[in-house]
Amino acid sequence: MATFTLPKNSKITGKARKHAATSSGRVKSFKIYRYDPDLGENPRYDTFELDLDDCGPMVLDALFKIKNEVDPSLTFRRSCREGICGSCSMNMNGKNGLACTTAIDDLKGEIRITPLPHMEVVKDLVPDFTHFYAQYASIRPWLQTVSTTPSGKERLQTPEQREKLDGLYECILCACCSTACPSYWWNSDKFLGPAILLQAFRWLADSRDEMTGERLDQLEDPFRLYRCHTIMNCANVCPKGLNPAKAIAETKKMLVERAL
Ligand code: SF4
Ligand code: SF4
Ligand code: FES
Repeated sequence: MATFTLPKNSKITGKARKHAATSSGRVKSFKIYRYDPDLGENPRYDTFELDLDDCGPMVLDALFKIKNEVDPSLTFRRSCREGICGSCSMNMNGKNGLACTTAIDDLKGEIRITPLPHMEVVKDLVPDFTHFYAQYASIRPWLQTVSTTPSGKERLQTPEQREKLDGLYECILCACCSTACPSYWWNSDKFLGPAILLQAFRWLADSRDEMTGERLDQLEDPFRLYRCHTIMNCANVCPKGLNPAKAIAETKKMLVERAL
């Protein structure tokens, strides 16, 4: 039987700290993963109590309130605050999502917040996206053409051709799907994962792209594409309502069709 051991510094053994609410009202407790590699300590959970009557409605509002008023060292990523940039992806009460579009009231009981699962942690709620972005770059995520067009002429699409990109172009690369995918947890060194495969299909589906054959060649690999076992966690967690598993299935279909 295979046995697995965790690196020593991954175990949550650090001394928990509790910050009680300073006003009474609708008090809610937030249990937040803390890890600072510079301290040389193991990770810990800190608990922060907040009065919801004095806090914005979203999980990101609570994180800002904690950072601004209780513990300025709390570290997390964010930018747009409206579900567009994909920066604030994290795990809240066991489910990946965006802190800025997740309402506190929709999460029952104490809210436990951790970084996206199965990624190296840079600090607190910030995961290391280096490998994820390298995988994204590997699919050449831009329009590739070989034909030339008269100078100044755009490559046009019909409304029907453009419609084929719906459900694909909206991806914000938050990685909620990939880090919820068991196949990606175990094989992320070789399996591209649902986010990158959805992006790969976005270019296969683009009528203007002229590298379909080369793109399919690159994906036709037992690990890169075929580690998807249609578990569907990816579609369940996508905060944009996208379905990476369907994009993966469409890619597999293209590979079958070109082999006929
Ligand atoms: S459907 Fe495929 S990509 Fe999506 S979670 Fe399952 S194994 Fe991963
Ligand atoms: S498919 Fe959805 S969950 Fe996955 S990276 Fe794109 S927006 Fe995020
Ligand atoms: S802050 Fe941009 S998606 Fe949440």
